[in-house]
Amino acid sequence: MDRRHFNRLAGLGLLGLQSRSQRWFDLLSDQNLEVDGARLNDRMKMLATFGANVAGGIDRVAFSDANIEALDWMSGLLAEVGFTPSADFAGNLIATKPGSESGASPIMLGSHIDSVPGGGNYDGQIGSMGALEVATTLADAGHITRHPLEIAVFTNEEAGKTGSRALAGELEKFELDIPTASGFTIGEGLRRLGGNPDRLEEVRRSEGSVEAFLELHIEQGAVLYEDGIDVGVVEGIVGIMRWNVTVEGKTNHAGTTPMNRRADAMVAAARFVDLVHTTALQMSGRQVATVGRLEAAPGAPNVIPGRVTMTLEIRDLSMEGIEKVYNEIGGSVGRIEDQTETQFSFERFYTSRAAPTEMWIRDIIERSAQGMGLSSRRMPSGAGHDAQSIALFAPVGMIFVPSVDGISHAPEEFTEPQDITNGANVLLRTLLEIDQTGS
Ligand code: HGY
Ligand code: MN
Ligand code: MN
Repeated sequence: MDRRHFNRLAGLGLLGLQSRSQRWFDLLSDQNLEVDGARLNDRMKMLATFGANVAGGIDRVAFSDANIEALDWMSGLLAEVGFTPSADFAGNLIATKPGSESGASPIMLGSHIDSVPGGGNYDGQIGSMGALEVATTLADAGHITRHPLEIAVFTNEEAGKTGSRALAGELEKFELDIPTASGFTIGEGLRRLGGNPDRLEEVRRSEGSVEAFLELHIEQGAVLYEDGIDVGVVEGIVGIMRWNVTVEGKTNHAGTTPMNRRADAMVAAARFVDLVHTTALQMSGRQVATVGRLEAAPGAPNVIPGRVTMTLEIRDLSMEGIEKVYNEIGGSVGRIEDQTETQFSFERFYTSRAAPTEMWIRDIIERSAQGMGLSSRRMPSGAGHDAQSIALFAPVGMIFVPSVDGISHAPEEFTEPQDITNGANVLLRTLLEIDQTGS
């Protein structure tokens, strides 16, 4: 039994002697606390105005003005309930509030508010607004937690999990030069958020520096919605690896070059895209693989593309699984090169390691859902999350709420207001039990 688990049992009064009744009484009295669903959903609507687009979704990409304005707005609301908001050197919004027991490690809640281009209004936003709502509910009740609290809104979750990976020490220097949808490189973007890319080392958190991290998030898949289940208890988060793929062919005249004398990079790329899809589809396991971006050069209708650049992304619950798919794909690229007289090159630019959540936190989330009369099921996450970075140095738990029709990363992304409120209440109860029974 590890120390943390022992402390929990001690905290629950199962093994400990002192203050058993007090903690049980505190925990039971806390269980009457509930979030204000109307306020929470109003704030969701308010947040959706930052970067709103005509399609009904948002373009609040990391480092954009809308991202900065939304962070400022949220910081103000956190300050109103006794938190001290600030930007760390990775541009993360970290708002802190002391607990009654100085010296205890903080409990951290949070997620992200940056979106993919043309994204929806729920991905990351539910966890950020849920954390704010929990903070506001506790302040309204005059409830001071034992542990200090930290509310984190992580930088650039969508295009590299920059902020949370900085806390885990996973960021690689070359990533700072990667351009983003905002028009700024990641390094420039960090400065826009008040960070300092030259001091990222100081952002790094050590093992044990956080008591627990909790993230409320939409499922982004259809399992909960189709099965009519209220809450997902996340067991593990997939690993993700991404590569830039370049295909070199031969630029030439589209009218005068005979079909049997071409080195058409686009034809090679098309065969590669199908190879990626077919390989991931046919291999046993839960892997997924995607070519999400493809650009042909020079990009004129009367010129045979001499070069194509693409992105390859592979996800699996194990990093070995990702490597296996990558090698399987790589084993067939040579055939495409021979057929099309082109040359492929691969450059890895992103790795986010697969992460299990903490067993004892899963139990608390499940208990909290049951205590609210909510149905729940344990499940993996096919989406990547900040929690998987934080899991590299702290125990984490993730709570899912249903995505209608499983749609995400699109303006049609939607979660019912009641499900948002349910998720925030489970987040609140889970926090309170960890606070009362943790070390
Ligand atoms: O890409 C993802 O899985 C996450 O939504 N950022
Ligand atoms: Mn997300
Ligand atoms: Mn996302």
